[in-house]
Amino acid sequence: MLLFGIFGNPVTHSISPRLHNATLNAFNLKGCYGRFAILEPSSLFPTFHTLYLKGANVTVPHKEVAFQGCDEVRGIAQKIGAVNTLVREGSRVIGYNTDALGFYHAISSFGQIKNALVLGAGGTAKAIAIILQEKGIETTILNRSASRLHFFENNGMTCKTWDTFTCNAYDLIINTTSAGLKDEELPCPEALLNTLFERAKGAFDVIYNQQTPFLKLANTHKLTCKDGKEMLLHQAVLAFNLFFDHRFEAERIESIMREIFTL
Ligand SMILES: NC(=O)c1ccc[n+]([C@@H]2O[C@H](COP(=O)([O-])OP(=O)(O)OC[C@H]3O[C@@H](n4cnc5c(N)ncnc54)[C@H](OP(=O)(O)O)[C@@H]3O)[C@@H](O)[C@H]2O)c1
Repeated sequence: MLLFGIFGNPVTHSISPRLHNATLNAFNLKGCYGRFAILEPSSLFPTFHTLYLKGANVTVPHKEVAFQGCDEVRGIAQKIGAVNTLVREGSRVIGYNTDALGFYHAISSFGQIKNALVLGAGGTAKAIAIILQEKGIETTILNRSASRLHFFENNGMTCKTWDTFTCNAYDLIINTTSAGLKDEELPCPEALLNTLFERAKGAFDVIYNQQTPFLKLANTHKLTCKDGKEMLLHQAVLAFNLFFDHRFEAERIESIMREIFTL
């Protein structure tokens, strides 16, 4: 029996076990994917080893700790500095980041994007900004405060706070903050957002399964809007494929997981 799981705090809300267990079942694999609340970051890798997990996903707030503790980090995760997928290779743990590419898949429906504005400067913003940069999309970061901007500045991106920002035109406005997750807040001042939306083609919010104030406002400007569901779906597809060394077709995994969202 192969064991997998999601590590985070909190994890009770996570849909990942449903996505991965449905896929394991559909492929007749003897495996199980569970939820593990990791209260102390120091217990993340001991838990992975004690349970002899084959793979795991890592969510808030442990992605940086996961990055630091892996035996090897591969791909874009090296540049992001955060890992959301762990895969066992013998006695070694390999770390990957599938949030970045998951996001990129999710925005393919917006058509050609030349430039983007990322609201927020946390872990999710790092993954999104790095993949946008890799794909040649000019990326600007706008955050409430300055303290988290160094990472983005060091990667050559234009970085602003609400105080220093002068409004340009951006094809895509992306909310990576948790504003609107459990409150009615916008990720930046409303007047500024209205100006940005007047000039944009689309709006994307990483928060999923709810119409945030950010997306509600974007809708009033008749923009193409998308929440974080597709990003979540695609990061899970990519993670499943890493767990099984790309044995299965991504399209088949995607269609199995997509059904879970519509149930
Ligand atoms: N759809 C998906 O697949 C997916 C994947 C990963 C994460 N997520 C979601 O992404 C969100 C962010 O996660 P994270 O780990 O990046 O968070 P984080 O590291 O805690 O970053 C939070 C960022 O949001 C800003 N912020 C927080 N509250 C704000 C507010 N009320 N107004 C303006 N800015 C605010 C912070 O600004 P300061 O620096 O000024 O504090 C910071 O830049 C969460 O809701 C998470 O569920 C979704």
